[in-house]
Amino acid sequence: MAKVKKAFFCNNCGYESAKWLGQCPSCGQWNTMVEEVIQKGDGPTSKSATFSPQSAHPVKLSEIKGDMAEERLLLSAGEFDRVLGGGIVKGSLVLIGGEPGIGKSTLSLQIPLSCDGLRTLYVSGEESSRQIKMRADRLGGEQENVTVLSETSLENILDQAKALAPQLLIIDSIQTIFSQLVDSSAGSVSQVRECAASLLRFAKETSTPVIIIGHITKDGTIAGPKVLEHIVDVVLQFEGDTRHSFRILRSIKNRFGASAELAVYEMTSSGLKEVLNPSEMFISTHGEELSGCAVSATLDGTRPFLIEVQALVSTAAYGTPQRSATGFDVRRMNMLLAVLEKRVGFKLSAKDVFLNMAGGIRVTDPACDLAIVISILSSNFDVPVSQKIAFAAEIGLSGEVRPVSQIERRIAEAEKLGFEKIYISSYNQKEERQHKKIKVIRCSTIPQIVRDIFQSEAGR
Ligand code: TYD
Ligand code: MG
Repeated sequence: MAKVKKAFFCNNCGYESAKWLGQCPSCGQWNTMVEEVIQKGDGPTSKSATFSPQSAHPVKLSEIKGDMAEERLLLSAGEFDRVLGGGIVKGSLVLIGGEPGIGKSTLSLQIPLSCDGLRTLYVSGEESSRQIKMRADRLGGEQENVTVLSETSLENILDQAKALAPQLLIIDSIQTIFSQLVDSSAGSVSQVRECAASLLRFAKETSTPVIIIGHITKDGTIAGPKVLEHIVDVVLQFEGDTRHSFRILRSIKNRFGASAELAVYEMTSSGLKEVLNPSEMFISTHGEELSGCAVSATLDGTRPFLIEVQALVSTAAYGTPQRSATGFDVRRMNMLLAVLEKRVGFKLSAKDVFLNMAGGIRVTDPACDLAIVISILSSNFDVPVSQKIAFAAEIGLSGEVRPVSQIERRIAEAEKLGFEKIYISSYNQKEERQHKKIKVIRCSTIPQIVRDIFQSEAGR
């Protein structure tokens, strides 16, 4: 009998320690260390979390033939293939992470259903075969080549997968399956690690692409995909607000393509639909011009978006004014308010300020700053900004209007959507081509833009 050994794991990042610690030295989280039994015997242990082919030997780069390079499988799910960098690489392990209820199971079942003739094994540890059938009926598509298995034992899943030899294996979800070699419960750090390592071995040995689904919980009690991120080849994050219908699939890590690729989906009654023109969805269509709205030309990954920023400024009812932001970092908003107060001389300290990004999207692009400042001022003056104007610039602490990256793409997207003017920083390099339909206005300070917009708007 192998001696049973225990260790403590951080259930946020998977750090292993021989003794209990209040704070994880690796990720700095408090109270995340949990004790787990790890079997150190003959069988593979959690240490086997990396792939080691038996007959590996060094090869000169120049001697590696082209056909040894990655072979890709197109899944005929346009946007999904694009996020992966042009199809899924054979023998790769892809992790789709996301909060419960966001649509991971729907997305992963839709892939084989939309791909005609792709033999797929869909393993679910969460739903029964009948439930999967009901979902598949709702989603529509070709069901002939999709085999489902409702199972949680890793050993059985691998046996079945070897017998069936599918072209694609989907595991929903990694937290519900367990290996008999590890003595802790399903979803614990060592189980998740062991199962992922075994699936990686299966993927490399049989050249089958494997998609695994991982849950992220807000309090991090279940071993989140953080532990998995080191093991897998591709990490895709599925995010969005469950109260809105938009979902964003973002690649965070990709060993075979560009990371920071992104696809937008809309959740409908018959599953997820690709949104090919996301910009139009985040601009509200109220038609009339309202104060407090400004459109920002942002960029997420390599994809340009035009997003409507909405602000509401009102006199504070209580002593301490309220500041709240949805879809944007409230600290950055406070910084912008401080810049407006100190550098431009607008008194906003006795005002409540609320900020909202239309469509429930989260924006981190600093190019949004200028649109935020303009929407706040527009609400404050109660003067609407024309809906034909877009903004793309960062605001510095001294109130200067700073340049942003990839300005060409932002201008081109705004032009495509019929905007007539775009305000950018005068420090942005001169654009290479002339824009016919859109007027590019370069500014270096906020007062200059404010004069330009609000005086002409008020004078109309
Ligand atoms: P699901 O894929 O089960 O989420 P996850 O696997 O990430 O937990 O889907 C969750 C939500 O999607 C659920 O609340 C219902 C909704 N939904 C639709 O709106 N339309 C559909 O066609 C399907 C299948 C699900
Ligand atoms: Mg699910």
